[in-house]
Formats: sequence, structure tokens, C-alpha cells
Amino acid sequence: MYSDKQTKLVEKSFKSYAHKVISLRVIISKQFEEISNCFFYFYAIMKHVLATRLNQLLQRRAQQGALRQPLQLGENASQYIDFASNDYLGLARDKKHIKTIAQHYEKLAQIGATGSRLLTGNHWLCEDLEREIAQFHKSENALLFNSGYDANIGWLPALSRKTDVILYDAAIHASLHDAMQMIHNTKLPFQHNNAQHLEVLLADLRLAQPEQIIFVLVESVYSMDGDIAPLKTISEICEKYNAILFVDEAHSHGIFGEKGEGLVQHLGLEKKVDLRLHTFGKAFGTHGAALLCSTLIKNYCLNYARSLIYTTALDIHTLVSIQQGYFFLEKGSFALVKDKLFSNVNYFKMQAQTLPYSLQINDSPIQFIAIGNNQKAKALSAHLLQNNIDIRPILAPTVNAGKEGLRICLHAYNSYVEIDLLITLIRNFI
Ligand SMILES: Cc1ncc(COP(=O)(O)O)c(C=O)c1O
Repeated sequence: MYSDKQTKLVEKSFKSYAHKVISLRVIISKQFEEISNCFFYFYAIMKHVLATRLNQLLQRRAQQGALRQPLQLGENASQYIDFASNDYLGLARDKKHIKTIAQHYEKLAQIGATGSRLLTGNHWLCEDLEREIAQFHKSENALLFNSGYDANIGWLPALSRKTDVILYDAAIHASLHDAMQMIHNTKLPFQHNNAQHLEVLLADLRLAQPEQIIFVLVESVYSMDGDIAPLKTISEICEKYNAILFVDEAHSHGIFGEKGEGLVQHLGLEKKVDLRLHTFGKAFGTHGAALLCSTLIKNYCLNYARSLIYTTALDIHTLVSIQQGYFFLEKGSFALVKDKLFSNVNYFKMQAQTLPYSLQINDSPIQFIAIGNNQKAKALSAHLLQNNIDIRPILAPTVNAGKEGLRICLHAYNSYVEIDLLITLIRNFI
């Protein structure tokens, strides 16, 4: 027990202690407030710095006339004459095709894959489809990816090592440039479609390093210019120098070959090409892609291709649409539609000779008119749009400065009258 005196002493010292604690708390909370204010201002400044940086870069694009803005044609989109989309065969809008897909899809009673391919996303349709695709394309095996972009940023970084070398056509697609950025090895471009230049580089590399693994990357039909690669010569050179040849068939799938098998099969080169990419967002009018490869490469990609492993697998409607795309090539009216497409290509080639622009005239559905600068390319595209023709300008930096222009996509469903109108409008544009 404390005496009264002791109790008073304890109370007094407690009061002064409590007072100190309270005043300390005030000081701390004030300082804390200042510190938290400080953080708040710091974050505000950071956000401001980021916003300034983004605005500056967008302004720079705008000054170059290269600001990208998705164009929306609205509900009347179908009234425009389509010379822009990659729907070469018209499957994306073919009512009968859409109905057949819907009938098959309905039976499956599932929307999404529900997981990645290595977890719950391995729907039986994926495996069936891969078997069918491999058989159709005379390939040892096939592996589905969610898109061509995913396939390219998946297989190349997975397969190549620091010590390997990649030789690529200077006009190769952006997805392969992105894939190459993910790998720390030597990458050398060769002049566009110049097989001799490829051979010179390969010969030098082989002399220096006889055992080096060399990948060669080309497209069969180049996505912007629409010109066709000298695949036979390239495959012979790759064979001569033991290089691994990859051919991106995004724009030849469903176009070349008796049944739309692609340029590699059209030329009988399937045994000479190590990897092929077929994408389904172009002539099939749907989405997704398949890498045609050996079983070893397929199993390896299933283990190491990150863009395949760490993503939800393709949805069921897309799988059915891809399957029906192949059905159309094999058993549908493909031959008739292809004839229509190529008669339009030939008609355009004839009529376009008179245009006062630098033209890249090709034996493929993609034609390119070089206009020479972003502003003029945009103005011509706007003029065509005003006249109900849908053609999109291709601007720098998507293409090199000076190569800006219009990419014209011909389709089976275009008519000669539409092509005449297009050419007249371009010719009369000043
Ligand atoms: C040559 C080429 N490769 C790959 C891709 C990417 O394919 P996807 O649209 O399926 O991602 C494209 C698409 O523009 C392409 O043109």
C-alpha cells in the first residue's frame, strides 16, 4: 500500500508523463502529417511528370501527322466499300458460314476456355483441331496460340539462346521485332526479299562459326507491301548453310495453294521449312494462330513459350470458327471464292497502271500506293472515306518515313465497278 504522500507523488509524475506523451503525440502526428503531405506532393509531382511525358510524346506524334486514333465507322460500316480489312475471302461476314459456326458452337455449351492450356483450358477441340491442322498442312505437328502476335513472341524467345544468331528480312512483321527484343543475341537484317544478301550473311557466319544455330525469319506475303518472298531460293540457301527457316504465312493462309494451304505448300516446300505460322484473323475472319512444327518443338513450347503458358486458352467459339474455316477450304466453295479474289487482283493490276503514284503491284490481295508523307496519305484516305470507300493510311513509324501510303486490300466480294470507282477517285485526287 502507498502512503498519501507517495500516491500524490505518483499522480503528479503520471500527470507530467501523460502530458509529455500527449504533447509528443501532437508533435508526431504533426510531423507525420507533414511527412504524409510530403509523400502526397511527391506522388502528385510524379503523376504530373508522367502526364507531361505522355502528352509530349502524343504531341510529337500529332506534329508528325502520325497520331493513331481508331476510326469508328458506326452503324453504317457495312455501307462502305471495303478495301481495308484482311477479310480476303469474306468469311467474317458470310451469313451461311456464321450460321454453320453457330450451330456447331451451340452444341458445346461453353463460352471460354476457363484456364490456360496447361490447366483447364485444354478443351478436346484444341487437340482435335491441332491434329486436323497438322494433317491439312502436311506438318509433323501443330500448336495453337491465341494470336499470331502471341505465337511469335512465344516460340522465338523460347527456342533461341544468347549464342544463336537471327537473320531476318528487313520488312519482317512487328511481332517478330518484339520477339527479337526479348532475346539477347545477335540479330542481323538482310535486304527485303534479297536472297543474295541473305546468302552473303549466312556464308560469313558459317565461316566464322560452323556450329552456330542460325534462325532465318521471313514472311511469304509481306503484310504491308503485299509482295511475295522468293521462298524456293531462300529455302535452298537455308538448307545449304544449315539454317533454321521460319515462314510467317499470315497473309498467304487461305490464299495460296489449291486448297488455301499457304505458299510453302503451294511450292511444295513443307519439308524444307522448319517452322510455319498460320494465323486465323485474316482469311478465316476469326482469331488465333497455329505454329506448324515438329512434335519436339511443340512439346518444348508447351513448356517454355510464356505467351502460351501464362494466358487463358482460345475461347470455344474461336476454336469452332477455325475448324469451320478449314472445313470451308476443304469442302466448301473455296475454289469459287478464290477465283473471284484473284480475278479482282488481276483487274486491279491492269487498271492501276495509270495511277500517278509509285505503286507496289503484287500477285497477292495486298497492293500498296506510296504517297510519301503522313499528311497526304491521311488526306487521300479521308477523301476516299467521304466517297464511301474504306481504305486506311499506313503511316510512319509503322513504315519508314517516305514510305507512307495506302494499303489496298482486295477481296473476293469486291466488284470491278468498286475497283473502277477506287481508281478514278485516287487518280482525280490532287
Ligand atoms: C505477318 C504477320 N504476322 C503476324 C501477325 C499477327 O497476327 P495476329 O493478328 O493473329 O496477332 C500479323 C498481323 O498483323 C501479320 O501481318
